Amino acid sequence: MSDKVTAPSLKRMRDAGEKIVCLTAYDFPSALIADEAGVDLILVGDSLGNVIQGHETTIPVELEDICYHVRCVRRGCKRAMLVADLPFGSYNISTNQAIESAIKLMKAGADAVKLEGDYSDAIQGIVKAGIPTMGHVGFTPQSIHNFGGARVQGRGKDAETILANAQSIESAGAFGIVLELIPADLAKHITDGLGILTIGIGAGQQCSGEIQVWHDILGLTTKQHKHTKFYMNGRTDIAQAVSAYTNDVRNGSFPGPENAF
Ligand code: KIV
Repeated sequence: MSDKVTAPSLKRMRDAGEKIVCLTAYDFPSALIADEAGVDLILVGDSLGNVIQGHETTIPVELEDICYHVRCVRRGCKRAMLVADLPFGSYNISTNQAIESAIKLMKAGADAVKLEGDYSDAIQGIVKAGIPTMGHVGFTPQSIHNFGGARVQGRGKDAETILANAQSIESAGAFGIVLELIPADLAKHITDGLGILTIGIGAGQQCSGEIQVWHDILGLTTKQHKHTKFYMNGRTDIAQAVSAYTNDVRNGSFPGPENAF
């Protein structure tokens, strides 16, 4: 478990049928915990717009926000591959803009970048600059207004478009693709047809690996979505701890003599 995870080592895992474990992290302690737990790929996702910044969508996230969190995560991420999201507006205008933004993320400490949608030219340019790149298809949160909400995609004719996008992302040189909120059979079809890894979230059991958001698996969110699982009740447990501390300070039981110098 000690070798640094890279795009080629992830491909070897995929080819050997070993599941690839991916998780988001946004700061030093969460990155350290994920890395030491054996997570293979840590994503500084633009989901930080929701779970860290408290926005309704990922649209307000700036490139500098991701760079800041990449610098924090880098210090805790030793073995896992550190992938950074290109946020909305940092790659959509031109291939040159995409390359410039990807370079900023790499200089902040990322090992690879990810971008949403059918931006094959941008992916090709970023890969040409020597930067491992991931695509992201299905429900792509930066286009939430087009979808009318966080909805499962690919149940009808758009399944063909999602497949075609995944194929063109592979042809552009991406080493992997996130498949978000698509039917399990479509995710399997895409996974079977591609030579690169697929990382699912709400995409069934047949992808090369799985990604989840830190706050979702730790029960730190107000709502548990169908595609997530709470591995602890973080929100309730933390609220209880903070209330116990509040009570102790108010009633004078903390700090006690044992905490004094
Ligand atoms: O921003 C993010 O956290 C993501 C994952 C949900 C795949 O893109």
